[in-house]
Amino acid sequence: MDPMDLDTLRELDIAHLMHPITEFRKYVETGPRIVRGGSGIHLEMADGRRVIDGFSGLFNINVGHGRHEIADAVHRQMRDVPYYPAFYEFSTETPIRLAKRLVDLFPEGRELEHLLFTSGGSDANETAFRTAKLYHGAKRRPERQKIISRRYAYHGITRSAASATTLPAYHVFSAPEPTHVHTAAPYCFRCDFGKTYPDCALACVDDIEAAIQREGPETIAAVIAEPIQGTGGIIVPPKEYFLQLQEICRRHDILLILDEVITGFGRTGHWFGMDAFNIFPDIVSFAKGITSGYLPLGGIAITDEVYRTIKDDSPPGLPYMFGLTYNNHPTACAAAMANLDIIEREHLVENAASVGSYLKQKLEKTFGGHPVVADIRGIGMLAALECTEPGTKDPVGGHPMKFPSAVANKCWDLGLIARALWDNVALAPPLCATREDIDEMVAILERAFHEVSTNG
Ligand SMILES: Cc1ncc(COP(=O)(O)O)c(C=O)c1O
Repeated sequence: MDPMDLDTLRELDIAHLMHPITEFRKYVETGPRIVRGGSGIHLEMADGRRVIDGFSGLFNINVGHGRHEIADAVHRQMRDVPYYPAFYEFSTETPIRLAKRLVDLFPEGRELEHLLFTSGGSDANETAFRTAKLYHGAKRRPERQKIISRRYAYHGITRSAASATTLPAYHVFSAPEPTHVHTAAPYCFRCDFGKTYPDCALACVDDIEAAIQREGPETIAAVIAEPIQGTGGIIVPPKEYFLQLQEICRRHDILLILDEVITGFGRTGHWFGMDAFNIFPDIVSFAKGITSGYLPLGGIAITDEVYRTIKDDSPPGLPYMFGLTYNNHPTACAAAMANLDIIEREHLVENAASVGSYLKQKLEKTFGGHPVVADIRGIGMLAALECTEPGTKDPVGGHPMKFPSAVANKCWDLGLIARALWDNVALAPPLCATREDIDEMVAILERAFHEVSTNG
């Protein structure tokens, strides 16, 4: 394939390719930023620029760019058995191996022993909801249809996953399904009850109990929660939050679905968010970091108890009535196996813990006391600076997202990809980043803050 010249590519992109979460009216003016390749934390752009990928794509390129061994594994698998559907009795070797590998990686005592692979995070959560309903159906309580999620949640964009997503921007012209119930989030900086941790006694957990009582426990199938709310603004809960939440779920026989789409595979400095907060979920959904984005893959893992209930107690003759053409895709699973090899061999989880804590310290040192930085949050390779008008919780200049977007754009000009998440400027570097890389990223961020604050 002969390379196209950049102007032609830009023209054809604007003419024919649609981009998600992008305002088409503006896009036809700005056009694409075309990526040619990359290596480690760096992206190489088609116009010759080299920039630091400070957001790992979309929180997902955990091992960094240019890992040819993943390409080689995919190539081998493609020549062997590229794909066959997993429906009925059909199976292939690589998904079997990957399932066993993940069972061994999940922290002790979780009994997450049964897996189904999907194509990404949204369909993983759809699968999780269906599985929770099949579990309750097997227990002869089909009226348990409701799913509880929390404010600031992002669980994906397909119908039910979007209904569990509570960020209002995702509901323009598309209301959530009525079976979804939304409650408070553990967002201490913006506490719904105006309280302060720890005096609050976790009023946000009580809010979930109150919603269960209001709706009737006999109507609720599951609660879904991200260990750390990512797209909502890197919201890190108090450490005992999940202990209380899982106690409530157990008491009412409501399943706890943990959405590890961002937090899985090392991002928090632990293999999974459930290690960081000692959570015992019934169902885990995952995606992103499992392949570092080299191929699309997601999935769910369920406990032996949930699996056995569906297997043994469902009405005879009723199959697990849910499936996707690309469940258990062997080539995507081969990418995951090679990706996990890299994470293990290069100790990237440990690196995310130590370099991640350096990142947080560095942000605190650089931005602590900055007039518009009201809160600095993070864990592992996830970090956010929440920006407000000094002394208030209002957006800088009164315009939501304007200041963080200006900072992110300035970072781009200066050679760093950072992301505006509502009132936050966020970083999520690849897990292979070093302390020197962090110094470079934070220096660019500091300059961007300075230039936007002084020149607008
Ligand atoms: C926590 C969480 N869950 C689910 C999803 C949806 O994943 P996907 O975009 O692969 O469908 C995302 C995507 O950002 C996410 O952050």
